[in-house]
Amino acid sequence: MSARRSLAVLVLCHEALVPPSGVRSYDRRKPPEWRTEFDVTRALRALGHRVTVAGAQHDVTELLSAVRAHAPDVVFNLLVEFHSTPSYDQHVASLLELLQLPYTGCNPRGLTLARDKALSKQILAAHDVDVPRFAVFERGARFRRARGLAYPLIVKSRTEEASLGLARASLVTNERALARRVAFMHEALDTDAIAEEYLDGRELYSAVLGGARPRVLPTWELVFTKLPRHAARIATRAVKFSPAVQRRLGVTNRAARLPAALERRVAHIARTTWSALGLSGYARIDLRLTPAGRLAVLEANPNPELARGEDFSDAARAAGLAYPALIQRLLALARPGTAAATRLDR
Ligand SMILES: Nc1ncnc2c1ncn2[C@@H]1O[C@H](COP(=O)(O)OP(=O)(O)O)[C@@H](O)[C@H]1O
Ligand SMILES: [Mg+2]
Repeated sequence: MSARRSLAVLVLCHEALVPPSGVRSYDRRKPPEWRTEFDVTRALRALGHRVTVAGAQHDVTELLSAVRAHAPDVVFNLLVEFHSTPSYDQHVASLLELLQLPYTGCNPRGLTLARDKALSKQILAAHDVDVPRFAVFERGARFRRARGLAYPLIVKSRTEEASLGLARASLVTNERALARRVAFMHEALDTDAIAEEYLDGRELYSAVLGGARPRVLPTWELVFTKLPRHAARIATRAVKFSPAVQRRLGVTNRAARLPAALERRVAHIARTTWSALGLSGYARIDLRLTPAGRLAVLEANPNPELARGEDFSDAARAAGLAYPALIQRLLALARPGTAAATRLDR
């Protein structure tokens, strides 16, 4: 796809996140929920593309009619859930595959593998990528002891994202607390739960841009400048989304500035993770670096948050890709549906 050609782009997003028409900017200190959709759409227009935004979530026929009505050259896929279920992101990509439309971001298979926090860890371990040891607690199954795991454990949803259900109580130090938190997760989120060994240490993010040879951007870090002593460094729901909590704990994202050898190690792990899970488009790999120098992958996020000022776009900027250039690059990486389905043409 040429960088200069004006394309008909259909931005596909959650129906509640279509930016209100006529809005030209927003307050950076109080960003609206639709800021990613706004930032991407504005960048696409500034690049000279003809942009339509279509919101969908509950009715697949609406999605189909938007595609039919606009006959886009490419779909910019910001729709990361359907029927409010994040694991349906793969179905959205699959539908675009069947429609044989080029679309940005990850292919359905990569989405499927990365979404499952247990399966993805098994695959990564088979590729010699260090991951925390874990146990799965299926919904509806009787609670069993977490044999062979060392406390503290952190209890998460197996398939949810954006730290849904993650709070300080997610960190458990004994079996009773584990059973209680697992039951809570089953009830509150209606998904399987996963308990992982908690790895204390620095929280690192490695952004990867696809292509024949994926490019790893400079490592980013989530820093807590005012964390009380003995408090766990966890990117909880509140840490990610509550400005008040962010201010209280001094939460910021910035370049990790690792020694060169460590930066290379992160990049190597990020590339291995990318290819082991068959990712495409763009992704962010979450890692932990322990004081002893252990570097483990927590999860891979295909189609990560793309708003301006978030770690992915900031890491891209640090690598010389300003925001519009990043968005253009993601468009250029869009593949016709059928090709994106295979690992051979990433
Ligand atoms: N095994 C772990 N050890 C240490 N911290 C963890 C672990 N698992 C999760 N966390 C913390 O919880 C956050 C969210 O977990 P993650 O697996 O990335 O789920 P999500 O998909 O919700 O982002 C991480 O960014 C990290 O701060
Ligand atoms: Mg994460």
